[in-house]
Amino acid sequence: MREHAGSTREARVYEPWFKMMHGERSGLDRALQDPLDKNIKAIAVTGATRSQGGGLVHITKKTPGSRVRAITSNPESNTAKKLASEGIKVIQASFNNKDSLVKAFDGVQSVFVVTNRWEHLFQGKSQAESGEIEEEQGMNIPQAASSTHTLEHYIWSTTPSAKRMFRGKIITPHMDYKANINARIKSELPLLAAIISYLYFGYYPQNMAFFPFIKPIERVFATGSLAYGKYANVALKKWTFEQMIIEWSEITGKRGVFMETTINAWTTLWRPPGNELSPQFKFVEVCDPWEENDEFISPEELGINRSEVVGFRGNIGS
Ligand SMILES: NC(=O)c1ccc[n+]([C@@H]2O[C@H](COP(=O)([O-])OP(=O)(O)OC[C@H]3O[C@@H](n4cnc5c(N)ncnc54)[C@H](OP(=O)(O)O)[C@@H]3O)[C@@H](O)[C@H]2O)c1
Repeated sequence: MREHAGSTREARVYEPWFKMMHGERSGLDRALQDPLDKNIKAIAVTGATRSQGGGLVHITKKTPGSRVRAITSNPESNTAKKLASEGIKVIQASFNNKDSLVKAFDGVQSVFVVTNRWEHLFQGKSQAESGEIEEEQGMNIPQAASSTHTLEHYIWSTTPSAKRMFRGKIITPHMDYKANINARIKSELPLLAAIISYLYFGYYPQNMAFFPFIKPIERVFATGSLAYGKYANVALKKWTFEQMIIEWSEITGKRGVFMETTINAWTTLWRPPGNELSPQFKFVEVCDPWEENDEFISPEELGINRSEVVGFRGNIGS
């Protein structure tokens, strides 16, 4: 194609000249692929092949004025290929490799970040080892984002921490290490902390069936600077497991029974993953970790009408 050949020749001649004169690349090649349009906001979405990031990619690709970059460690996976076939820009980067993240975030206005936790545990790492990996990866991402000159908003999917709230009496590593990342971002990356929004996801009803539950993330992006430094609750409906299992039985027609158990019994049954989750259930029994305080931005401020929220029944039923 003539146009393509022209732009290749231009870059080939222009780049060495520009580098010689200015000591850095021109960015022209990126501009050719990704023409500058001040009204378009580019969003890099981590975890794009799964629940949180995947849901966000699907909403954002339909949002006028947004351009989404789906970040994956494996562009050859079926999910990544499907995203690419839908016209979504899929970029390979790893949470273990800061340079790859720096490149993936180059030129974006927003980054959505979710960390990988359960895979390490299911691959046989101990709870502490999995937490340490999550924290290390969870710091590589904001450190990389800090060198993105165009960045306006860093949205981080985190959780409350039982360890911090109960001074070590309840330990929930998959939540506690995320809270370590919050604290480290505040102390080690204050400039990034000034443009961060924290999302508190609750237990996914998706753990019982698939459903798209992403609207609050999309609204935090759209809200921009009003959401800086704020926490946003993504657990808009609070239900007991007994309520959930009754509803689940009615919807699926299968008999489910709620039975109370102990942390020890769960740990014996499910081993490290059981010992991760059962203290979380204890945590929500003794307090409401998702209770909103002054640091929260309300659903109304995010433009979410509570009556629009698809509840547990709507999600499981769909
Ligand atoms: N389940 C719940 O009820 C619940 C509730 C609240 C919070 N959470 C938290 O949500 C997080 C998981 O989110 P999720 O459920 O959306 O995802 P997920 O199903 O756990 O999948 C992990 C995602 O991370 C990506 N990933 C893994 N390793 C990577 C690496 N080295 N470099 C780049 N990307 C990597 C994977 O993408 P690729 O494989 O494509 O690279 C995948 O998209 C966990 O931290 C969990 O604690 C879960």
